[in-house]
Amino acid sequence: MAQATLNFPRGFLWGTATASHQVEGNNTNNNWYAWEQEPGRIRHGQKAGLACDWWGGRWREDFDRAAETHQNAHRLSVEWSRIQPAPDRWDEHALDRYREMLRGMLDRGITPMVTLHHFSDPIWLMEQGGWENPAVVTHFDRYVRKTVEALREYVTLWCTINEPNVYATSGYTSGDFPPGKHDINSTFRVLANMARGHAAAYHAIHEIQPQARAGTAIHYRSMKAAKSWFPLDGMVARQLSRLFNDAFMRPLMNGVMPTLLGRVRIPEAKGTQDYLGVNYYTRDLVSFNLLYANQLFGHRYYRPDAELSGTGFLAHEPEGMFEALKWALQFNVPIIITENGVEDAEDHLRPKSLVENLHQVWRAINFNWPIKGYFHWSLVDNFEWERGWTQRFGLWELDEATQARKKRPSVDLYAEICRNNAITSEAVAKYAPTVFGKMFPN
Ligand code: BGC
Repeated sequence: MAQATLNFPRGFLWGTATASHQVEGNNTNNNWYAWEQEPGRIRHGQKAGLACDWWGGRWREDFDRAAETHQNAHRLSVEWSRIQPAPDRWDEHALDRYREMLRGMLDRGITPMVTLHHFSDPIWLMEQGGWENPAVVTHFDRYVRKTVEALREYVTLWCTINEPNVYATSGYTSGDFPPGKHDINSTFRVLANMARGHAAAYHAIHEIQPQARAGTAIHYRSMKAAKSWFPLDGMVARQLSRLFNDAFMRPLMNGVMPTLLGRVRIPEAKGTQDYLGVNYYTRDLVSFNLLYANQLFGHRYYRPDAELSGTGFLAHEPEGMFEALKWALQFNVPIIITENGVEDAEDHLRPKSLVENLHQVWRAINFNWPIKGYFHWSLVDNFEWERGWTQRFGLWELDEATQARKKRPSVDLYAEICRNNAITSEAVAKYAPTVFGKMFPN
């Protein structure tokens, strides 16, 4: 049997990622809470409820789990609606609670990465038009300043906005997220305001903390023409990819956002990233289809022979990770994989998904691409937005009724990788034997 060690660079960040509304519980002042009260919005009418009860203190046991399994970093988000419950009110107790959590991380040898916006918005902000209203930029700037001042003692790695492309397209094109709109013009308005908000946040963070590193986390999905010989497939694939993958990122590179038919100048966004966060889950084929008018005539689907996750939500496509990193290279900044994972209650696919995705990361590192860390989604099962509790992304299983956690086999696999700062052939043979031959050919 081949013996090999695929080493990662010294100082590589190994962690998991979470988000406030998905894990804290009792968030009752944001747009997702309101959305959960509306019939038909969340699968089976499920609610975040207590979530993983981090606000009740269970972050302690979960950070213990992360530290005991050799993770050296964790990415969490702070909840705007807690920190600023009303436009003219700051909640110092909420900030104290976050300080305590971050201190708790450092005490356990875990480097914090803090996301300032991860899908959830205060209800008062949405009542003013949310991210469609340009006034959001000033509001976001004030909230970021207050939060960074309060947490600067513990954090230097900041993520301004998580997946602006998913927020804008899910909330304003497909309508799966609040506010449930189907309007391509609103989608671009939101994307542009998010780029302005990101730029304001980036500059604010650096004013307060010159040594900070700030960036965003973009959800990258490679979109290829289903039939390479059919020009219309290529055209819609390029158009969808431009909207989903590139629109938000362009102004960070050159100050200009391409829209459907034109462009918007956002000069203040140029050069506002110290790293790029890449969230990678799966990739799509695209074919031209007149029935998909609301998706720019692009029908997106998975390769027919791809292996699917638990509820069929994701296709197992590790090569797409390499494509994502290759795409990220063009921005000429260090890259962090800020999310990657699979919904898999039975832990059938996860071990294979972990090692094969990380194998692609390792390949990229061997081309000297500047990849600095990997955050697995997620530490423990949590509330999956419009899919409620039906999907299980955790290394640890959660029974949300009793709050009991149970480790899945992938915990030990990931712990070995984190501890060794490497993927060893022994670990693959033990936890993901079906891919051994592919990863270590004789
Ligand atoms: C989001 C996470 C989410 C994950 C899995 C990402 O798009 O950032 O909040 O839980 O996907 O659905």
